[in-house]
Amino acid sequence: MTLAGKRIVLGVTGGIAAYKAVEISRRLVDAGAHVVPVMTEGAARFLGPTTLSALASEPVRTRLWDDPATPIPHTEIGQAADLILVAPATARIIAAYRMGLSTDLLTNVLIATRAPVMICPAMHTEMWEHPAVVENIAVLRARGVRIVEPESGRLAGGDVGTGRLADPAAIVAAVVREFAPRDLDGLSMVVSAGGTREPIDAVRVIANRSSGKQGYAIAEEAAARGASVTLVSTVERPVPAGVEVVRVETADQMHAAMERIAPDSDVVVMAAAVADFRPVRVAAGKIKKHAGIPEIELEPTPDILAALGERKPAGQVLVGFAAETDDLAANAMSKLERKRLDLIVANDVSAPATGFQHDTNAVTLFTRGEPPITLPLADKRTIAAGVLDKIVAIRHAAAG
Ligand code: C5P
Repeated sequence: MTLAGKRIVLGVTGGIAAYKAVEISRRLVDAGAHVVPVMTEGAARFLGPTTLSALASEPVRTRLWDDPATPIPHTEIGQAADLILVAPATARIIAAYRMGLSTDLLTNVLIATRAPVMICPAMHTEMWEHPAVVENIAVLRARGVRIVEPESGRLAGGDVGTGRLADPAAIVAAVVREFAPRDLDGLSMVVSAGGTREPIDAVRVIANRSSGKQGYAIAEEAAARGASVTLVSTVERPVPAGVEVVRVETADQMHAAMERIAPDSDVVVMAAAVADFRPVRVAAGKIKKHAGIPEIELEPTPDILAALGERKPAGQVLVGFAAETDDLAANAMSKLERKRLDLIVANDVSAPATGFQHDTNAVTLFTRGEPPITLPLADKRTIAAGVLDKIVAIRHAAAG
């Protein structure tokens, strides 16, 4: 519950993307936020207020006057907020906010607040690129207003271009980032994620069930806490905001990428499931079925983590993962020693709802000379936060 206790005003303005505010509201509530929805008159033409009320934490407010709940809604709503999020934000609301023009409830709330404001523009490309809008956005940005940039894609009426509201998940991630502790500010970090694929022939591979979800969650959480993060990934997943992705497929490619990036990183997390064996020879074409059952000779892949452990620069925190089905503690501790790690994140992949492909995980953190820490079953982002807390503690201890 990364947003527990946070009061977020969700301002919805009149664009076709208003319907996405429902999804944003649901996600914010799921993350523990208290969502106070405010709609403009225009928004109410696109989206039924009842729908938004049902998925927010209280009924929608639309009017500056005659609010049965309070005679002064504009100040009360803005003062109590921890964040004002406007999604979607039309050219009109952006201009009004820039000018300090308070004509309706939402513009009043925006002006009568000291809380941070996050604007998620959505409009046609011509409008988004109009010099007035460009200038308004620049002024707001310079004032410290957070802008979640629109995406390129299909717009109302079938046009394609920049101006589509950012993905609801990305908007919620930006909100989460806003409240995250910035305890990784200035740190560089590389995280590997996903299972490697080792080719057998032109079409077949040796793969594993790793989804990359835990590695992506660590990268996302680390970026939210201020680290500059590179993700070395074998999987196609939405890239967390502020994270640079290097795509690889095989253990060799991952090895090369990690060897290149790790020496300059303060923290290295090998969350990837690297194949232990690969075919010695890769057939050029597709091995034919009628040629009989092929003999595939295997050889070990390089142990990337062990190699990184051997050349670990002073002060770097090196983190490995151990997916185990038995003797969790003994196996994890022996990997910690053998690969010269500072921390190993061990999970029992035979337990229900943990490990590969699940959205949840439960892990035990092993370090040298300290009792293990158990992180009970939780979503992978919460597990990521626990792993990063431990990394911060290791760095503090090393700094004395
Ligand atoms: O020894 P084991 O494969 O169980 O160790 C798991 C840890 O080692 C994980 O962090 C994994 O990313 C890493 N590893 C690696 N290269 C390999 C195999 C595993 O870096 N070839």
